[in-house]
Amino acid sequence: MSPRAPIIAPSILSADFARLGEEAKAIEAAGANWLHVDVMDGHFVPNITIGPQVVKALRPHASIPFDVHLMIAPVDPYLEAFRESGADHLLVHPEAGPHLNRTLRHIRQLGAKAGVVFDPSTPPEIIEWMMDDIDIILVMTVNPGFGGQSFMPSQLGKIARLRAMIDASGRDIVLEVDGGVTPQTARLCVEAGATALVAGAAVFKDGPDRYGANIAALRGGG
Ligand code: DX5
Ligand code: ZN
Repeated sequence: MSPRAPIIAPSILSADFARLGEEAKAIEAAGANWLHVDVMDGHFVPNITIGPQVVKALRPHASIPFDVHLMIAPVDPYLEAFRESGADHLLVHPEAGPHLNRTLRHIRQLGAKAGVVFDPSTPPEIIEWMMDDIDIILVMTVNPGFGGQSFMPSQLGKIARLRAMIDASGRDIVLEVDGGVTPQTARLCVEAGATALVAGAAVFKDGPDRYGANIAALRGGG
């Protein structure tokens, strides 16, 4: 069986932060499907990155969906600000708020796609009773906080389990993987059932002239 080519979502975290607008434009021109934006608060994760103002500034530079990964706690007070800044998908960690289902419904009320993020230690069962309220599942294959870390093969079983849960639900939920994705690990993720891949280091390495080839290699075509 040959799986379909995955959605590729380059992580802006690995871009040149002094030229973010140009980087977003170059990534779209290179064939990226989504732009993954890693938001970190120095509290939920040990790193600080960008806030809604930067998302807003980036928005006019690309027309592909903004896949906004919120690594902030509490997360609920900031959903509206990120949506208004131009986020199309809002992805939250269940550990970042007291009522995951309420958070997911709020995201949809704001008109965005709602995503749940699994830390390496978060069990798949937590979403068993809320499949109807989820558009995207994001499995982390590193501990959140930094780009350029090594892929954790222990998470492949979780990807497969979530694939089975999605199939059983009959719902059209994207299964996305984030962390240490390279052409080699991308293949393992897709074989386990992933339909979207985030990649920072593997896309942005070697400069803008290589973005297209790097993206193609992740899709399995380069
Ligand atoms: C980690 C972030 C990832 C990361 C991916 O907390 O959520 O999106 O930037 O970067 P690579 O692909 O370099 O592991
Ligand atoms: Zn991310």
